[in-house]
Amino acid sequence: MDEECIGRAARMILDSIQVVALTGAGISVESGIPDFRSPGGLWTKYDPLLYGTYESFIHHPERFWEMAKELNPTLESAEPNPAHYALAELEKLGKCRAVITQNIDHLHQRAGSTDVLELHGTHRTGHCMRCGRVFSLEEMKELSAHGDRVACCPDDQAIIKPDVVFFGEPLDSRVLARAAELASTSDLMLVIGCSLEVYPAAALPEYTKRRGGKLIFFNTVATYHDHLADLVCLGKAGESLPAVVEAYKRLTSMA
Ligand code: APR
Repeated sequence: MDEECIGRAARMILDSIQVVALTGAGISVESGIPDFRSPGGLWTKYDPLLYGTYESFIHHPERFWEMAKELNPTLESAEPNPAHYALAELEKLGKCRAVITQNIDHLHQRAGSTDVLELHGTHRTGHCMRCGRVFSLEEMKELSAHGDRVACCPDDQAIIKPDVVFFGEPLDSRVLARAAELASTSDLMLVIGCSLEVYPAAALPEYTKRRGGKLIFFNTVATYHDHLADLVCLGKAGESLPAVVEAYKRLTSMA
C-alpha cells in the first residue's frame, strides 16, 4: 500500500465538504463474492448475453436460476469486509453523505451505511411478473429449490423476477436521479472497486468532475477511466480504505 497515496487521499477528504462514494463489485471481493470482469469473475464463467440480459431471463429464466443457485451460498455467507466498515465510519465522521452502489449484496447496509442507493437493485427480493406479488429471498429459494425449477408465483404460476437489474432493463429512475444529483453536488467522489464499464453508473464520476469536484479511484488495477481521477490508489479496498480513514482521523485530531 502506497503511504503517500493514503495520505493524499486523507487530505482530499479533509479538504472536501460533500463526499459521496460509488462502489462496484471490487469492494465485495474480499468478502468472498467474485466480481464480474476480473480473471475468474462471474462473466468469465457465465456469458452475460445468455445469463445477464432481461431478454434472456424472459425467454430462458432457468439459466438465471442456475447461476443464482451457484451464487446464493456465496452471497449468503458473505460478511462485510473492512472496506464496507470504513465507508460506514466515514459516514459517521460526516465524510460520506451516501453510498451509490452497483452491488446487490446488501453488505454496505450490514456494515452500517445508512444511505445506500442500490443502482442495480437487490438480490433480497423478487416479484411476480404478472400480479406483482413480492417474494423474499427465502421464498424464492424455496419455490426454485427442486431440480432445475424456476421460481413461479403460487397464485398465478407466472415467473418471479428477482429485483436485480438485468442488462437491457431500465434502472429505477428515482434512484438514478438521486445518484446523479448526489454526484453533481459532491466535491469529492470515492470510486471503489469499479471497472466503470457499465452505464449509466459509469457516467457518475464525470458528473462530479463536471461540477469541479475531485475523484479518487480505489482499485487493484488501472481502468480506462483513470485519466479522470485526481488520485488513483492501487491496492485492495479492504486495506486501502481503512488506512485512509485512520489517516483522516489523525489529520482531524491534529487540526
Ligand atoms: N479492491 C479494489 N478493487 C478491486 C478488488 C479489491 N479487492 N478486487 C477487484 N477489484 C476491481 C477490479 O480490478 C475491477 O476494476 O473491481 C472492479 C470490478 O469490476 P467489475 O467486475 O466490472 O464489476 P463492476 O464494476 O461492479 O461491474 C458493473 O456490471 O455486470 C454488471 O451489473 C453488473 O453491477 C455490475 C456492473
